[in-house]
Amino acid sequence: MRTDTSNAICRSDYAAPNYQVETVEMGFDLDPAQTRVATRLTMTRNAGARGKSITLYGDGLELVQLRMNGRPLSRRAYQLDDGVLHIPVAPEQLTLDIETLIAPELNTSLMGLYVSNGNFFTQCEAEGFRKITFFPDRPDVMARYKVMLRADRDKYPVLLSNGNLIEQGDLGDGRHYALWEDPFKKPSYLFALVAGNLVCQEEHMTLASGREVLLQVWVEEGNLDKTQHAMDSLKRSIAWDEQRWGLELDLDRFMIVAVGDFNMGAMENKGLNIFNTKYVLANSRIATDVDYSNIEAVVGHEYFHNWTGNRVTCRDWFQLSLKEGLTVFRDQEFSADMIGTDSGRAVKRIEDVRVLRQAQFPEDAGPMAHPVRPDAYVEINNFYTVTIYEKGAEVVRMYQTLLGRDGFREGMDLYFWRHDGHAVTCDDFRAAMADANHRDLSQFERWYSQAGTPRVAVETHYDAAGQTYEITLSQSCPATPGQDHKLPFHIPVAVGLLDKQGRDLPLTLEHAPASGQQQCSSPGPAHTLVLELTEASQSFRFTGIAVEPVPSLLRDFSAPVILEYEYSDRELAFLMRHDSDPFNRWEAGQRLATRRLLKLAEAVVNNSDLAATMPADDALIASMRITLDDDSLDPAFREQVMVLPSETMIAEQMEQIDPQAIHTARQFLRRQLAAALREELERVYEANATPGPYSPDAASAGKRGLRNVALSYLVELDDEISHAMARQQSDDAGNMTERIAALSALVNSNAAVKGDALARFYDDFSDEPLVVDKWFTLQATARTTTLGKVRELMKHPAFTIKNPNRARSLLFSFCNGNPAQFHVPDGSGYEFWAEQVIALNAINPQVAARLARTLDRWRKYVPELQHHMRSALERVAATRKLSKDVQEVVTKALAN
Ligand code: TRP
Ligand code: ZN
Repeated sequence: MRTDTSNAICRSDYAAPNYQVETVEMGFDLDPAQTRVATRLTMTRNAGARGKSITLYGDGLELVQLRMNGRPLSRRAYQLDDGVLHIPVAPEQLTLDIETLIAPELNTSLMGLYVSNGNFFTQCEAEGFRKITFFPDRPDVMARYKVMLRADRDKYPVLLSNGNLIEQGDLGDGRHYALWEDPFKKPSYLFALVAGNLVCQEEHMTLASGREVLLQVWVEEGNLDKTQHAMDSLKRSIAWDEQRWGLELDLDRFMIVAVGDFNMGAMENKGLNIFNTKYVLANSRIATDVDYSNIEAVVGHEYFHNWTGNRVTCRDWFQLSLKEGLTVFRDQEFSADMIGTDSGRAVKRIEDVRVLRQAQFPEDAGPMAHPVRPDAYVEINNFYTVTIYEKGAEVVRMYQTLLGRDGFREGMDLYFWRHDGHAVTCDDFRAAMADANHRDLSQFERWYSQAGTPRVAVETHYDAAGQTYEITLSQSCPATPGQDHKLPFHIPVAVGLLDKQGRDLPLTLEHAPASGQQQCSSPGPAHTLVLELTEASQSFRFTGIAVEPVPSLLRDFSAPVILEYEYSDRELAFLMRHDSDPFNRWEAGQRLATRRLLKLAEAVVNNSDLAATMPADDALIASMRITLDDDSLDPAFREQVMVLPSETMIAEQMEQIDPQAIHTARQFLRRQLAAALREELERVYEANATPGPYSPDAASAGKRGLRNVALSYLVELDDEISHAMARQQSDDAGNMTERIAALSALVNSNAAVKGDALARFYDDFSDEPLVVDKWFTLQATARTTTLGKVRELMKHPAFTIKNPNRARSLLFSFCNGNPAQFHVPDGSGYEFWAEQVIALNAINPQVAARLARTLDRWRKYVPELQHHMRSALERVAATRKLSKDVQEVVTKALAN
């Protein structure tokens, strides 16, 4: 077995290109079977060039012509092997004419130029442009583009590319053309074209400066009743970027296009964002509250890239988090600002931290662990990870926590002032933050270079005589592949201290807070201080503390670490009730629940009595009752408190993962809660109806969320009353949020009607692909859905493995979202997984590699399962014609 990564690209090998491309002119003769691409590049040798050679990349191209300065290049003047076109000697300035042929309709990878439902789309990030033409396809080559599109007028009435439309007309022979010019320099990964039979909703918007811009949302005919929310989200994004960051839309026209076949969420191509339909199309009939809020976030995310990614881009792909971490941070802040309330912001923070813990912490502890700025990769597509995105966003957030909002803004301003129009590094971003604030942030660099989730262990000591309270913080970080020893991180730890009544104590540090900084700039004594942990271990002493306090640690999750502190059950219950930091109020509940769940799982393994482990008068149940019943708390917040840590999250806390034990434990606890809190759940259910027309605003969505979580608990009781409630809701539902929650409640119960309900749902929505996806997902993740049932669903006429959304809705949902059924002891789930990875590998390597990640953590499972998992991984690794994408994932999983 090959386990080396000798074919890896290394960050330390970076060398600036010898040549810049000044201009790119492209002509496309669009045809699904054979598209001709004529490209003219003007190139200039860089001042610091180390040679006269030019390297162009191509992938799966048929090269028809290659000319330099108008003359065909002789076969001796260049080499072409394995997709690399090398010209060893070139003049200082030159024009290259390249003609290539491609077959978009055969392109199932969905990278480069491809066809979806008869229309043309492109996806060039990270290295898709080389599937269109030969090019120095690397982000530090930025050029001006002019693009001529020619195609059949009837089949492809709409022709779009980046920037401004400067000319269009007829070609006589049933074909027409459009000429586009992008006034801004850009890297090739931001190139895009769309051609097809599409319609748009358009609106004009006046910017703060008074300039008017044209906004368009393009969709397939029949979807125009689903574009308003995306349009509204776009307008809000534009206004927010102006208000919060002083960043203006720099084009006169901004387009969003929705496509049903797409590898990821969306793509920030300059002026022509291309989106998965899932993140555009919404109306109350087909989209849930969560869909609405995801759409707002993704529309914001792609729009925000216009400055953080496009105007200032990445020097190389190792710097990916420079744009992704920063842009996720920006979209998180955008979503929080759109909710507006403090409690709403906290709910958003809780959701984001959940994702981090659920997906990024395991990644950081597994075989694919990598730093936020990786040192090496085999396939860059595999590095669009939760570490780059979500941990990257946490790293950006820590600057804001350390420097304050104003200081962070100064840093952003300096970053744009210095680097607009350039391709830069994570170090450049850090330097802008440091320089704008006159701070030394050199140690902060370790957040970029060291992988793994740091642990911060806390010890406290109260000195009654001296009225001081000492907090000792000690950090460590586990070894990760290729990194055995870690150096201390610069960690902001926000803390508060609660008195016996649960009020925040005013905080004074014994030695003036040279490094400690007040988190909010409100006058008066601080109630939250940000302690800066920079050593392996450090103590902080607070003075004037008259009674022993309860500490509230890592408020608002001020750093992406695992915090270890021996809270008593009573302290956790106390924090759940009183902490002024809503995040930590929620966190206390999660800690208590995790404690119970681990005990219950242990009891399952030992065959002990679960009811004795978790009696009805338990502190967790009492605390949940108080929260659930407290109408002064936002429904959305109460919903969050009621959601127990997921099975994946519990798994990460176990020495050895036993999926069945975890599932049994969690189900038991849910039933205990349902039984004990029945009255309160019913009351909350009645009290949080949202009559009247549907609105996706946070307050209404919060009520529906709480109501639906209440329903999901009540059906755990699996009695006539709860079944009737779910059936009633299903019948009465005026929107998808209520409808799907009711269906989910029925499907996860033993209600006799569940088969009928599923069939009726499918009939009602069979013409809405995004809802059919939900229908598959709901079944794939249902507790009673066995592997056999999944295989049966794969035979359903609506299933196809070729569409990524559909593949994800059934295959990924089952393998990643139904642990108890997927990890059945006989290993049949893993066999199935291997089959699907192999099938997908031949169609779409990028999507296949995502599914391949499912068995990443195989070494952490109980030995019986490990054994089956290894065989499945080996089976995939031994497959012929394995893509680099899948190869890298399984090789790393099997490596020692
Ligand atoms: N840059 C995109 C974003 O984060 C995501 C992206 C990267 C992508 N590579 C892709 C999307 C390939 C689709 C296909 O917004
Ligand atoms: Zn992005």
